[in-house]
Amino acid sequence: MAAYEYETHDYDVVVVGAGGAGLRATLGMAEQGLRTACVTKVFPTRSHTVAAQGGIAASLANMGPDNWQWHMYDTVKGSDWLGDTDAMEYLAREAPKAVYELEHYGVPFSRTEAGKIYQRPFGGHTTEFGEGPPVQRTCAAADRTGHAILHTLYGQSLKNNAEFYIEYFAIDLVMSEDGQCQGVVCWKLDDGTMHVFNSKMVVLATGGYGRAYFSATSAHTCTGDGGGMVARAGLGLQDMEFVQFHPTGIYGSGCLITEGARGEGGYLTNAEGERFMERYAPQYKDLAPRDYVSRSMTMEIREGRGVGGEGDHIHLNLSHLPAEALAERLPGISESAKIFAGVDVTKEPIPVLPTVHYNMGGIPTNYWGEVINPTADDPNAIVPGLMAVGEAGCASVHGANRLGSNSLIDLVVFGRAAAIRAGKVVDADAPNPVLNTASVDKAFERFDKLRYADGDVATADLRLEMQKTMQADAAVFRTSKTMAEGVEKMDAIAAKQSDLKVSDRSLVWNSDLMETLELTNLMPNALATIYGAEARKESRGAHAHEDHTERDDENWRVHTVAHLDGNAVKLSYRPVGLDPLTTEDDGGISLKKIAPKVRTF
Ligand code: FUM
Repeated sequence: MAAYEYETHDYDVVVVGAGGAGLRATLGMAEQGLRTACVTKVFPTRSHTVAAQGGIAASLANMGPDNWQWHMYDTVKGSDWLGDTDAMEYLAREAPKAVYELEHYGVPFSRTEAGKIYQRPFGGHTTEFGEGPPVQRTCAAADRTGHAILHTLYGQSLKNNAEFYIEYFAIDLVMSEDGQCQGVVCWKLDDGTMHVFNSKMVVLATGGYGRAYFSATSAHTCTGDGGGMVARAGLGLQDMEFVQFHPTGIYGSGCLITEGARGEGGYLTNAEGERFMERYAPQYKDLAPRDYVSRSMTMEIREGRGVGGEGDHIHLNLSHLPAEALAERLPGISESAKIFAGVDVTKEPIPVLPTVHYNMGGIPTNYWGEVINPTADDPNAIVPGLMAVGEAGCASVHGANRLGSNSLIDLVVFGRAAAIRAGKVVDADAPNPVLNTASVDKAFERFDKLRYADGDVATADLRLEMQKTMQADAAVFRTSKTMAEGVEKMDAIAAKQSDLKVSDRSLVWNSDLMETLELTNLMPNALATIYGAEARKESRGAHAHEDHTERDDENWRVHTVAHLDGNAVKLSYRPVGLDPLTTEDDGGISLKKIAPKVRTF
């Protein structure tokens, strides 16, 4: 192995990733005076949160009646009863506070006539515990809400003296012999130097793994790096079988058209010009949750009512909306439709198709962001020194299906929660842990092996094989047959990692090597997804199993946990958290209200 010298950096906290969750955690840590580094493989304002369009959910009640209990109920029902009750209560309760903080930090929200934060309807957000009309709960900065949040949080983090290490690729976690996380080993992409960040707390905020699929709204950087590092450290990944398809990716490119388009009055039609959502979801129609709408669209296409020459997509209509409203509220998607579909939204419908958008699963945590590694004795055992937030984590607040605009609020609520918790458990005066050099060496060995990989399989070819398999076999609808085939194919694909070929051996801007490292992160995420899906014999949220079409709470209201040993996946299960933070007597939600029932819209 080549010898790798490295520079060691000592911090109280190291945050890996600079999207919404990473920056909110970084800011919160730095505000408390913790010595905080944020390590990121892309420039912070290029993180994938920048692409978040429609908004951030919080029951501000600026546009009509709303309260956190209704938001919590919608989240519980949206999750198809797989979310953890304490985390869902925490999210809904803290959301207004977290949004007002963003406003005070300087996020330029759109405004109502009265100067309040503008809120629009989004799918699955309702009034009166799902009995009343849709609620306007999603706070928006036109259709560039993520962009606005990201720029504001980056500026505030700098103002609070957080230190940024930009274009550093995290290779692996440093773990002590007894399972404490002590830091992270990184490669600086622009000069090829190596760095070990030693800290009392590592926060993984590395985003999702949408790029395990062929067609995704996710950026090419969404390669599940945190999940990959966690799997190699012998820790579990939770509920990975639940992959969200956003109903309106642009046909062909997969580029996102925000649900805010339907929130502002847009609607879907089939080849007969029919507003088919009225049949599937009579009460909420186009504003039903995403799993519902994506399945309905897929059924229309399957039954021969898709639009286009091949009848393989659906139309999203906006041209009936006033041109001024489109320009003011939806300027970003009007531009995207023009660029990626050649469509003028004031005149023509946008061709759309359900497209992979979000991973409900991830690194299991409690609602403070502390990583959980369940043991036989303790299903909630915490990994010291390690947190995960945002799409990388699984709190679990979205369960089997996330509601639109609950992602941005998840990022800031749980990024903030991680900082609050770190303020309590990280002792700024204590010395840093003594680095386990064996763990550092192991990371460099893996890196070196990939750098000099000289097999027969090009990284791009293997990645494509994985993406096509996941797209075909872990899709909107799944059958026992497709998933069993998917497991078999993914086993064979994962095995080919030992035969990879990297052509560029240099250390400076070696995108060949970086993409190979990313592929080795995508792979454990993809394996955990297909194995978890194959094993789950029910339909719940985004997991629509055609041979087991009903939800089975008796046997399957449990979280899947996947551990990987090399490419071998071992599944176990841990209970869903059923206890709320507060009882009804203390102003909490009635347990009767959130008891499982048939999920209709
Ligand atoms: O449709 C959207 O604007 C996406 C929002 C989300 O995923 O929460």
